[in-house]
Amino acid sequence: MKLTKEEQDMLAGKHGNAAKKSMEILVALGEIYGAENMIPVFSVQIAGVSYHNLGDAGLDYLEELSRDGKVRVLTTLNPAGMDLEDWRKLGISEDFAAKQLKVVDAFSKMGVIPSCTCTPYFVGNLPRFGEHIAWSESSAVCFANSVLGARTNREGGPSALAAALTGRTPNYGMHLDKNRQPQAIIKVKPKLKTVPDFGELGYAIGKKIGNKIPFITGVKSANTEQLKSFCASIATYGGTALFHIKGITPERVKKPAGEAVEINSGDLEAARAAMNDDCVPDFVSLGCPHASLNELRRIAELLKGKKVAVETWIAVARPVKELADKAGYSGAIEDAGAKLACDTCMVVAPLKGRFKCMATDSAKACFYARGTNNFKVRIGTVEQCIKAAVSGKWS
Ligand code: F3S
Repeated sequence: MKLTKEEQDMLAGKHGNAAKKSMEILVALGEIYGAENMIPVFSVQIAGVSYHNLGDAGLDYLEELSRDGKVRVLTTLNPAGMDLEDWRKLGISEDFAAKQLKVVDAFSKMGVIPSCTCTPYFVGNLPRFGEHIAWSESSAVCFANSVLGARTNREGGPSALAAALTGRTPNYGMHLDKNRQPQAIIKVKPKLKTVPDFGELGYAIGKKIGNKIPFITGVKSANTEQLKSFCASIATYGGTALFHIKGITPERVKKPAGEAVEINSGDLEAARAAMNDDCVPDFVSLGCPHASLNELRRIAELLKGKKVAVETWIAVARPVKELADKAGYSGAIEDAGAKLACDTCMVVAPLKGRFKCMATDSAKACFYARGTNNFKVRIGTVEQCIKAAVSGKWS
């Protein structure tokens, strides 16, 4: 790889141990993927923050880097394993909390903003069209590439942190025009209305074409919340880092090519059936990816004057919750007994064994609730989920 003088100095250790280790990771990645050079990045999003996933080895690594490492660009964090302030209310143990706080301290020492959200674009990490970034968190990567038109590979936690500590990423994959062209043409026949409709579409497309880049036609409109959910779903069930939707996403597609696939109402029904177990929810979880202010407004409306009968979490970025506090949404939600879980979510928090059946409006949440926490799942609209939270029944 061709490195600039500054990049060579980082590799030689002239900018300290953390920059050296980071440049070693980036050069190794660049060589594996055939990158010719490094490019500067505008921002970084780091996943792999929960102590649940990092363990002591991960914590030791972060503490070592934090001795002399400082981020060079705007860098935000994915959710941690708990609400960093109110972790007791979520039933987190003292031991886990102590370790999790050490993890976040190590990141903060390096200058990483402890935003602890998978929707960094709601809290100020908002790249513009064409900008190069290095993000991890598959849903956010897909949103950045597809909805915003920024450019990032699907980084892992260590490579994202390495990009933050050097301000660089190897120039390959999604950073190059030639790799952003569609590889399949998807015709969507049914009319999509709700957030779970978009989650089911992500499931259906992902299952049919895997990680190919789709060019999707037939979707007449989509709001931010629907796109957020679609990104999470298609990245989970297919693995793509980028999609194009005709008339909705911003990147110009030269000539759509690849296999032609039709999605009909039977495909969406099959997706819904695959994400609905025969169970009665004892846990309701909304906010995957983290809830927008508009979603909190709707949840507050639905919960106003009611009481939840089962444990109910709404995962949200702390700055978004603070706005919801001012708007009165948080009060209506918390008065009903539901919990606003900041900094975390039901997947990265240590919840295994606490619940049996989770209701959600998120296709991604279904996948991880089953895989990570062994829960059964129910997918439905936010109205269905809140009804289940209040009644303790699923309908
Ligand atoms: Fe975010 Fe957790 Fe879902 S990190 S995308 S709320 S699984």
